[in-house]
Amino acid sequence: MGRFLVTGGAGFIGSNFVRLLAESTDHTITVLDALTYAGNAASLEGLPPSRCRLVTGSVADPELTQELVADSDVVVHFAAESHNDNSLRDPSPFIRTNLVGTYTLLEAVRRHGTRYHHISTDEVYGDLELDDPAKFTESTPYNPSSPYSATKAGSDLLVRAWVRSFGVQATISNCSNNYGPYQHVEKFIPRQITNVIDGIRPKLYGAGLNVRDWIHVTDHNLAVLRILEAGQIGETYLIGADGELGNKRVIELILELMGQPGDAYDHVNDRAGHDLRYAIDSTRLRTELGWEPVYRDFESGLAATIEWYRANEGWWRPMKQATEARYAAAGQ
Ligand code: NAD
Ligand code: DAU
Repeated sequence: MGRFLVTGGAGFIGSNFVRLLAESTDHTITVLDALTYAGNAASLEGLPPSRCRLVTGSVADPELTQELVADSDVVVHFAAESHNDNSLRDPSPFIRTNLVGTYTLLEAVRRHGTRYHHISTDEVYGDLELDDPAKFTESTPYNPSSPYSATKAGSDLLVRAWVRSFGVQATISNCSNNYGPYQHVEKFIPRQITNVIDGIRPKLYGAGLNVRDWIHVTDHNLAVLRILEAGQIGETYLIGADGELGNKRVIELILELMGQPGDAYDHVNDRAGHDLRYAIDSTRLRTELGWEPVYRDFESGLAATIEWYRANEGWWRPMKQATEARYAAAGQ
């Protein structure tokens, strides 16, 4: 391997991936990140400058991606517009980054014969009923609900086509909901933690019956490294840690862990087209590649995440006010 190009490496999962890579290997790492509202150079502070550099620019820029891919052995593509609520307000950046950006990168790796790993989401499969015994597997049909998940589904299909038609050396992973440090305060868990710190009551969409399948961001990134080591070219791997939990219960847990009454939250407007439940069957990743989650206890992982937000107010404070203003305008 050697020279990694990590797109979206100043975002939540990407910055955790860059830290893991810098700590556990001696590879050189170039981060390509547009530093949108969701990207933050501060998430990469403290990394060794001799091996890690940040290039500010877009994955949808063909000259820049050709130039950076030409100097790389492996591309891991995290960059995306990632928030469902934003995609309901304005889908256009989702089309540009998630579809055109992925196409642009695929053309670059095709030209240079570079190994490519595509980071995607379980949302491409749509949602499940609460009482459905089935979980998503690699053969579940695509059925995305939101503009965000539709663009992620489209980007996955571009990768599959570039593998089959042009022999691109690619793998794909579809992961469930991540939690951990450096996650933007627009997302469910950090929004509620920082609300409680600020004395604002947590906000639960609708009745809060929706279920998400939580995984610690480090477990996601360890699975990506394992796929890069041993995954079969052209194959898809689902990543999940059996972490299904209702949104209402997650809010209650955050409140309890932060010393507040478990019912001290508000119900707010529901999300349009809100997916009810996600659940991942990660048998393939476990049996074929031998991956297992390290963070098996959601409650202690959540407690550590709360501590991280308490200790790193300087990181999230600049984003908090504008984020809450956007939610207030939507009655959320
Ligand atoms: P994030 O929003 O925190 O980070 C996205 C990063 O991409 C930001 O740093 C942003 O500046 C950058 N970016 C956006 N547009 C860009 C462009 N045109 N060119 C270059 N960089 C650009 O997102 P995240 O939660 O870290 O998600 C990372 C990836 O993982 C996404 O592909 C997402 O679909 C996928 N994913 C996320 C989750 C989750 O729970 N967060 C779960 C499964 C998959
Ligand atoms: O499943 C993987 C996906 O998980 C990723 O592809 C996305 O990038 C990531 O954002 C996440 O999508 P969700 O829409 O599930 O995550 P979000 O944090 O926005 O919301 C989680 C759940 O919490 C969802 O059911 C909506 C609900 N919610 C969210 C917010 C922000 C609330 O009840 N209140 C809130 O304030």
